[in-house]
Amino acid sequence: MQTITLTRPDDFHLHLRDGKAMSSIVMDSARQFGRAIIMPNLKPPIVTTKQALDYRKRILASLPEDCDEIIRAKKSGHIHAVKYYPAGATTHAEDGVTDIKNVYPQLETLVEQNMPLLVHGEVMDLEVDIFDRERIFIDRVLAPVLDRFHKLRVVFEHITTKEAVEFVKAGSDNLAATITPHHLLLNRNALFAGGFKPHHYCLPVPKAEEHRQAVLAAATSGHPRFFLGTDSAPHAKHDKESACGCAGIYSAHCAIELYTEIFATAGCLGRLEAFSSHYGADFYGLPRNQETIILEKRKWTVPEILSFGDDELVPFRAGKECQWKLKH
Ligand code: NCD
Ligand code: ZN
Repeated sequence: MQTITLTRPDDFHLHLRDGKAMSSIVMDSARQFGRAIIMPNLKPPIVTTKQALDYRKRILASLPEDCDEIIRAKKSGHIHAVKYYPAGATTHAEDGVTDIKNVYPQLETLVEQNMPLLVHGEVMDLEVDIFDRERIFIDRVLAPVLDRFHKLRVVFEHITTKEAVEFVKAGSDNLAATITPHHLLLNRNALFAGGFKPHHYCLPVPKAEEHRQAVLAAATSGHPRFFLGTDSAPHAKHDKESACGCAGIYSAHCAIELYTEIFATAGCLGRLEAFSSHYGADFYGLPRNQETIILEKRKWTVPEILSFGDDELVPFRAGKECQWKLKH
């Protein structure tokens, strides 16, 4: 093959526009050119030094973060994936991604580094019904991205819909999903049963019963691309029981017990270990753990409250029974 090597060129006459338009085109230039002289014909035009310097800042801010960071992360040996949050989709995701196209260069690097992308799969479009945000995310974002980046490894996190289940099943071996205990146990009625239940509020929000059943069937099916991920997300009691309550369910105090109960109730206990202990490590390319744990069929009652730093939190199943207990 014939190749030609050049000193990186500069573009001495370029229009980048501004705002969203700029964000969607700036990488086309940045991929090729080291520097550029940017024309000032905005509306209104750039005429003062201050305006020019402010414009320069906006241009630099619109460039994606350095892909070298991904390479550094991979080299660390301890960072195993990169998380994708749509901007504003969930807790502290204000600085998330506004348009997946803005991070295409990073996705290329993830492919090169064989590093998985972990996806919070909800569109952040307030026009879209909150119960549809995961389903619409598949069509608008995830499917096109996987079409474009065939080799990108993706974990569709905390799936909640039958559409997500079907999409993962139909996908390649590069696509997997995590499933939480609360999405296996709750449907959306649990948020409103006998009054609003803030401790059942999480994102993605639990869906209708048919969706819970589809997710349950996937988890207990023995399919190797569905595996355990609790999304245990503690918030102080007062932050949940508030006029603007935080999303997140704390389940870590009884997570494996809940999964055990779920698999036992479904008559699939024999498939629990692969779901909880094999498939995730296999997908990540990590060794499976060598130690074992023991669970006993024994009822116990979850505390009403747990301490949480200087605060308190209300754990999942507070004051109610669990059927299995981890033996210490
Ligand atoms: C999580 C949190 O509080 O950090 N909340 C949640 O409801 N799951 C964020 C997230 O995973 O969306
Ligand atoms: Zn989470």
